[in-house]
Amino acid sequence: MNETRPDALPVLGIESSCDETAAAVLDGTGQILAEAVFTQSAEHARFGGVVPEIAARAHLQRLEGMVRGVLDRAGLTPRDLGGVAATAGPGLIGGLIVGASLGKGLAMGAGIPFLGVNHLEAHALTARMPGLFETPPAYPYLLILVSGGHCQCVAVEGLGRYRRLGTTLDDAVGEAFDKAAKLLGLPWPGGAHLERLAAGGDAGAVPLPRPLLRRPGCDFSFSGLKTAVAQAVGKGHRREDIAASFQAAVAAVLADRARNAAAMLPEATALVVAGGVAANQAVRAALAGATPLPLLAPPLRLCGDNAVMVAWAGLERLRAGQRDAMALAPRPRWPLGELAPPA
Ligand code: KG4
Ligand code: ZN
Repeated sequence: MNETRPDALPVLGIESSCDETAAAVLDGTGQILAEAVFTQSAEHARFGGVVPEIAARAHLQRLEGMVRGVLDRAGLTPRDLGGVAATAGPGLIGGLIVGASLGKGLAMGAGIPFLGVNHLEAHALTARMPGLFETPPAYPYLLILVSGGHCQCVAVEGLGRYRRLGTTLDDAVGEAFDKAAKLLGLPWPGGAHLERLAAGGDAGAVPLPRPLLRRPGCDFSFSGLKTAVAQAVGKGHRREDIAASFQAAVAAVLADRARNAAAMLPEATALVVAGGVAANQAVRAALAGATPLPLLAPPLRLCGDNAVMVAWAGLERLRAGQRDAMALAPRPRWPLGELAPPA
């Protein structure tokens, strides 16, 4: 048995909940020793979205070799670790089973704790990693998660203490970008392509709705916007103008929702943004100006899906004396509010 406290030892993180296969090792202070991410988008692109079976198979093919690779590069074996953290939900069940099973097997073989991490919790805690920001945000802070699969505002009140303030009533914001991009003839995933197209357009040229703007709360809705984009395409507006107008509408809605979230959590110390859509400059600018709170945007590779954030959440939970049972079952649906608060 290793004499050092498990949280002072390195932690392995595994992410496989959607279409990123990722592994990372952090040392006991949270410094990144090695990391790898493989984005499967080329394998899903011709289907215009993530195909769960293809994703599960791709994780199965790559994950074990990737884990061995990051451990090798960190100069470690599983026995040197203080724990193994794997995303256990929410996400696509096939990928979750692949990642969680590998994590459990490694932990069991090495006789170390296993942590089944909630993917949303991992996004929520990333901003606290050492070295990312001059001062990591103090609790409570706001998280606005804007990705292809998730779109929500969360009050992060402490480790294991999260309150969802609002979520999307239909599409996630990244999904809305991808659908609008498809209508504009762009390849999947289309968010970044749409942003490039928008650079040559006039954001005021095409009148588009701003769903839920100035309504109370911070829920989101994007399906009406998508329909309006389809109509604008039909009317023959310039593609660049549609892209720019769409982006402006989304940015305005996100800013409005963030403003309400800040009012719902007046003690908030910061607004943290995460998810692939955080790459969008118009969205960032709108969020930065929406509230008096500092906007903290982790570097893009830590905003999108990655295993560094999973390892970090694992480390935080180990520090709090937590571990999970080997019997923990992956959960395709796992709202943040259903996390057991730490003892
Ligand atoms: O968090 P993420 O990497 O992974 C998943 O949710 O799976 O987010 C991917 C999403 C996609 O919908 C993609 O189109 C969108 O983020 N995205 C963007 C930009 N870059 C990626 N949306 C708008 N503007 C961008 N520059
Ligand atoms: Zn994610």
